[in-house]
Amino acid sequence: MLPEQCQILVVDDEPNLRRVLSAQLVRDGYEVLVAEDGEEGLELLREHHVDLVITDLRMPKVDGMELLRQALAMDPDLPVVMITAHGTVDTAVEALKTGAFDYVTKPFDQAEVRTIVRKALATRELAERDASHEPAALAESFRYGIIGRSPGIQEVCAVLDRVADTPTTVLISGESGTGKEVVARAVHENSARRDRPFIKVNCAAIPRDLMESELFGYERGAFTGAVGSKPGRFELANLGTLFLDEIGSIPVEMQVKLLRALQESEFERVGGVKTIRVDVRVVAATNSDLKKEIALGTFRDDLYYRLNVVPIQLPPLRDRCGDIPFLVRHFVGKFNARLKKNVVGILPEAAARLEAYSWPGNIRELENVVERAVLFCDSDQIRPTDLPPELRDESASTPSPPPTSQPVSPGSAADGLKEQVKAAMSRLEREIIIKALDQTRGNVTHAARLLKISRKGLQLKMKELGLREREEPREP
Ligand SMILES: Nc1ncnc2c1ncn2[C@@H]1O[C@H](COP(=O)(O)OP(=O)(O)OP(=O)(O)O)[C@@H](O)[C@H]1O
Ligand SMILES: [Mg+2]
Repeated sequence: MLPEQCQILVVDDEPNLRRVLSAQLVRDGYEVLVAEDGEEGLELLREHHVDLVITDLRMPKVDGMELLRQALAMDPDLPVVMITAHGTVDTAVEALKTGAFDYVTKPFDQAEVRTIVRKALATRELAERDASHEPAALAESFRYGIIGRSPGIQEVCAVLDRVADTPTTVLISGESGTGKEVVARAVHENSARRDRPFIKVNCAAIPRDLMESELFGYERGAFTGAVGSKPGRFELANLGTLFLDEIGSIPVEMQVKLLRALQESEFERVGGVKTIRVDVRVVAATNSDLKKEIALGTFRDDLYYRLNVVPIQLPPLRDRCGDIPFLVRHFVGKFNARLKKNVVGILPEAAARLEAYSWPGNIRELENVVERAVLFCDSDQIRPTDLPPELRDESASTPSPPPTSQPVSPGSAADGLKEQVKAAMSRLEREIIIKALDQTRGNVTHAARLLKISRKGLQLKMKELGLREREEPREP
């Protein structure tokens, strides 16, 4: 499981401790939920998918031991890590006897927390895999957490074998959703730096004028509003790995500074005079063709050559259809566990459609399609009707039985194409929302999560489509 796919619940009544711990977990890439006491913690556990709980022992209302008992009653495989104060080993032992996974003592040692979290999540993943009866054959195609056996993926793994545990800079390129971040994390996880930070910088998401202070930090008074000093991502990544995502978006004026930092391993904070030296391994990723950017003058060639020491090219999914069955099996297992379903496979007609599709959004799109299919699947096998419309329709290459339900029926001939499409879209949206609400027994928050939109967004949509909240979900 990748960190960003893991949700960790932190429960502690001390705000400072909550802040420090959750900040570390977020830096390590995890999704984090926080609660101020056991009662709120239990509420969050009921409402969200949680992979790991880290909880204080002594808290008002529901304390850590009670939270532990109730959490295990809800989910016996849930790892729970207790936070204990120095000198309270006997309570920690009692917690372990009750089923806690492990405990950490205050004040925290970051590396210790990191190791325990990783161990706990690995145990959780094994339990989920057993629960989803993942076939052994899948493991063979599972290297570095990268699913696939196609020549393209084998080549990627062969390069990883050689470079992961070196300080060498790696440049990963590939279309959106092809797994660039998966590979970047694999590089880090398979290096001696794995217990050190993995810091991600999305160069496309940082405003141009904040880029320098984000990367290199700033000193107090460096600019209006700089009331204190702050380390940049380079400093945070010291001894670990810095992942520069969407490197093609880095402004030209920043490229010289970045090049110096890469070449000399040193830089100054904005407004600072002291030269800071770091030991950072850099992995960069791009979905644009940097050679074209160089020709256009938007990317410096010296920076390109500095980054491109070891290139890794991720092929688009349409060029490695052979990996689709493995990926589907992997995602079915994942969403079975997450959505508490028991889908065992996919019908050949549906599988053929997946293989015939062009996958512009690559693996991310496939993952979303499988999530939706597992959610909608009423039997033990995914059928073509569980797939989204663009996949149901596009499969001209594979003849298929007509779908059992026909959400999109042509409107009256008097309507223009636009009106018909609009009406059909509304019917589809309605159908999808009703199914999601059905799955979540009318719980709008959960349904919004499944549909990957905000709760507010879903409520607006429901209003627009004339669906009332808390109404018993019915077929239209
Ligand atoms: N080989 C793989 N095996 C399993 N899951 C994968 C694989 N490649 C990608 N994924 C999954 O697909 C999704 C997209 O992957 P990722 O974020 O790494 O892509 P990306 O190339 O960085 O995309 P973008 O350019 O949009 O940022 C993630 O959820 C990831 O877990
Ligand atoms: Mg990415």
